[in-house]
Amino acid sequence: MSRKILVTSALPYANGPIHLGHLVEYIQTDIWVRFQKQRGNRCIYVCADDAHGTPIMLKARQEGISPEELIERIGREHREDFADFLIEFDNYYSTHSDENRYYAELIYTRLKEAGHITSRTIKQAYDPVENMFLPDRYIKGECPRCGAADQYGDSCEACGATYTPAELKNAVSVVSGAAPIERESEHYFFRLQDFESLLRNWAGSGHVQTEVANKLNEWFEEGLREWDISRDAPYFGFRIPNTENKYFYVWLDAPIGYMASFRNWCDRHGVDFDEYWKPDSDAELYHFIGKDIIYFHALFWPAMLHGAGFRMPTKVCAHGFLTVNGQKMSKSRGTFIMGRTFLRHLNPEYLRYYLAAKLGSSVHDLDLSLDDFIHRVNSDLVGKLVNIASRSASFINKRFDGRLADTLEEPAVYREFTSRGEAIAEAYENREFSRAIREIMQLADQANQYFDERKPWVLAKDETTLPQVQAICTQTLNLFRVLMAYLKPVVPRIAAAAEVFLQVENRHWDDVKQPLLGRPIGKFKPLATRVERDAVDAMLEESKETLAAAGQPAPSGPLAEDPIGEQIEIDDFTRVDLRIARITDAAYVDGADKLLQLTLDLGGEQRNVFAGLRSAYEPEQLKGRLTVMVANLKPRKMRFGLSEGMVLAAGPGGKELFVLEPDAGAQPGMRVK
Ligand code: 2FM
Ligand code: ZN
Repeated sequence: MSRKILVTSALPYANGPIHLGHLVEYIQTDIWVRFQKQRGNRCIYVCADDAHGTPIMLKARQEGISPEELIERIGREHREDFADFLIEFDNYYSTHSDENRYYAELIYTRLKEAGHITSRTIKQAYDPVENMFLPDRYIKGECPRCGAADQYGDSCEACGATYTPAELKNAVSVVSGAAPIERESEHYFFRLQDFESLLRNWAGSGHVQTEVANKLNEWFEEGLREWDISRDAPYFGFRIPNTENKYFYVWLDAPIGYMASFRNWCDRHGVDFDEYWKPDSDAELYHFIGKDIIYFHALFWPAMLHGAGFRMPTKVCAHGFLTVNGQKMSKSRGTFIMGRTFLRHLNPEYLRYYLAAKLGSSVHDLDLSLDDFIHRVNSDLVGKLVNIASRSASFINKRFDGRLADTLEEPAVYREFTSRGEAIAEAYENREFSRAIREIMQLADQANQYFDERKPWVLAKDETTLPQVQAICTQTLNLFRVLMAYLKPVVPRIAAAAEVFLQVENRHWDDVKQPLLGRPIGKFKPLATRVERDAVDAMLEESKETLAAAGQPAPSGPLAEDPIGEQIEIDDFTRVDLRIARITDAAYVDGADKLLQLTLDLGGEQRNVFAGLRSAYEPEQLKGRLTVMVANLKPRKMRFGLSEGMVLAAGPGGKELFVLEPDAGAQPGMRVK
């Protein structure tokens, strides 16, 4: 009987790129899903961008675009990165969707009607300049315990102290730089404590890993507390029904995004949503998550689901963090590697293979040791696996017209390989991928040994023993096919190339029970090439460079000839709207020997500006360049026409005038901060 399984990975925030830490989870989930599909189960894998919350709102503001535009762009980048790592979602959606609003409101309303939502007034840090409440991470100051400067509002990175933002000394808002004040507002709370016995039962009956169950027990002992699920405007998210300016906290509607993404898929595929989400559903629900978000998935989420009349998860599968070369990913060492950077230098299936070779079902951290990575890929995938096919294919193609023998001479050898399939399947099923890979590689060794012992290259020298050569190579290629079928969830593209070569499709796990006999094979093309150390080094180098450009303070060179003048308030500065602009056209101005007429593109909007740059630039030198302009300068009527802004340049004047140019990546219209 085939199972119905709905699978999710945690939803990545729509404010930054996918890095290798993220990929541990998506690759792990994707392997499991592909395995389930190959076993003939009906398995649906959904995910989405986690699009709401303060960081996304502020990032969009910083870029001078709307949050909708930001999440659109990041969503597109995420999809491309996932596709290139061969992560095959059945649906990839966004939490900023109608379906998600619908289910967020539905769940909230049902919880409220059942008495699980309360409200009360709380005090919170407030930015009086930006007129917004500040999450702890948006307040910085001196640690109340050790005095370290520049610490966040919740904990000190220097001494590890935890505290409330009110305890920070000389606190400032990260958003405006102003000193935060305290302000009251009404908040809504979800009464998690109403679900304690339900959650204890659930956690104690195999729905989470043992380590997670132990952690949950600690939390039960500490006592469950109500959870603040509302945020005040301004906030990018869904407004809470029957309120003026309260929004659902991003973590309330994030997991509901799993449902929304699935609902969107159901509507397009004519599948009944409730069949998967009703309380007594016979479908399975699997959530793959990182260990940092266990509280949300093993407490809030099952409680919300149950309280609102939906089924609870079958399994919450938590994994550990990724370290690189034994240490936390580090920007300065170049080991904070973006997915896209990896793809520019290395084959995504190598990462899939390496992670699979190390992944177990525990919450332990997992190390990507780059030396080990090079060694593993080269010795396993290239040295052992591909080798099996290349050695035997050349005989079949050259000596037997590309045809496999009609019978299998040593059926027991083949049976041994197929009979190991169930143990390997069990390892995949239990998310013990490293065990599955170990078993498969043992078989690969056996296949190579089989070939070596029979020495077909010697037998091929004598016409009378030629049939044996065909038999040996037929067996070897069949063994290779079995191995590729077992590895297909991990390296789907290599497996697909092997299927083209063998001219057969391994759709179902059991397809390999029937050997390929008396049929043609295709030309052999190398299925995988070696990883070169240079490529790994280049990837690290590039990771260093991109992050250095993004994260470091501007180099302090000699100050300009003018002494720093009068000091202004931050408010004075924020009134100036500086934007990135592209100079789409530049021309001399008749009758003005100091001016150039510039056409500036602000990401859609055109501006005409007369700039005093003629002494330093030819118009041609400026065309196409990006620069910085004051976008909210009142238009000024000049003799030659209207000037709608000002371009920024530095230098004493004359030939020494330098138009400012932003770093790579800046786009017309972005706001300069
Ligand atoms: O921790 C995170 O990156 C969150 N965006 C994960 C959300 S998972 C789910 F609940 F939506
Ligand atoms: Zn401290």
